[in-house]
Amino acid sequence: MTVSSAPGKVYLFGEHAVVYGEPAVPCAVERRATVSVDAREDDRVRVTAPDLSLDGFTVEYGGEGDDRPDVNVAQGLVEAGIAYVAAAVEQARDAADAPSAGFDVTVESDIPLGAGLGSSAAVVVAGIDAATRELGTPLDPEAVAERAYRAEYDVQDGHASRADTFCCAVGGAVRVEGDDCRRIDAPNLPFVVGFDGGAGDTGELVAGVRSLREEYGFAADTVGSIGDLVRRGEAVLAEADPTDDPPESVLAELGRLMNFDHGLLEALGVSSRSLDNMVWSAREAGAHGAKLTGAGGGGCVVALDRTEETETALRFTPECEDAFRAELARGGVRVEEE
Ligand code: MEV
Repeated sequence: MTVSSAPGKVYLFGEHAVVYGEPAVPCAVERRATVSVDAREDDRVRVTAPDLSLDGFTVEYGGEGDDRPDVNVAQGLVEAGIAYVAAAVEQARDAADAPSAGFDVTVESDIPLGAGLGSSAAVVVAGIDAATRELGTPLDPEAVAERAYRAEYDVQDGHASRADTFCCAVGGAVRVEGDDCRRIDAPNLPFVVGFDGGAGDTGELVAGVRSLREEYGFAADTVGSIGDLVRRGEAVLAEADPTDDPPESVLAELGRLMNFDHGLLEALGVSSRSLDNMVWSAREAGAHGAKLTGAGGGGCVVALDRTEETETALRFTPECEDAFRAELARGGVRVEEE
């Protein structure tokens, strides 16, 4: 058996605009998905996810006639989760040139599903890492990221950037612009996350921005403005000492840019009342800035605050189901057991 884990992520800035070639800065955070993979004698795949939904689930597929689970009939999180695992298995089979390898796969995760914290990317990255190792063909994190991107791209019908998968594979703060993905230096950013208990449909939200952008020049300009603020944010990060806590002036400037980013995302129609309310709770509690993270529509906001105030305020916000501090995860995918 091989066990690998990969971190989730928050977007400091740049989600959605990254799909159109603008830069984005996601940051890996210390909440992990862990995938255990056991090679089988036959070509079937059995997926068990004891804690991914309320009751957990087990699905088995493969063999003749049903080589994939029927995941198109419903858009539920469980079906989506299985689709990502199936895509990861396909990538591992391809990488190892073992098209009929079968596996028992167990997925555990402390990243809320579909909530903007990179749950699907973390599962795909950890799954590919564990399955390729199990088949005796381990990949380096960049190669895992490339395969994970292809898996997400397939599941999301082409609506995927490299940002989530690259960040979860290599860890730390990263900069993604089109095919150009790299790690960047970042100080210890005091992230606080608020989760509304819900999830957004990434494909639908990305398609909504795409049609706004095609219909209105000012929506295309809005996407371009997100790119401009990301470039500004990168410059602020580059000036901070990556080995230390950032000074208040750096947090203030990053927070201002996060607030701006949230406003532009809201204009592009990807926020929600619960996300907006959590963002305002964080700001009123004294956070340097707050914004939605990921595709939006529901799920999580991320704020910057060194004090306990934002987390406390979020806990008292009716729309907020969970609030927690999220440390920057300096490491990406890693093997836990081989
Ligand atoms: C989803 O976590 C982030 C989006 O930018 C889509 C993507 O980059 O693939 C909305």
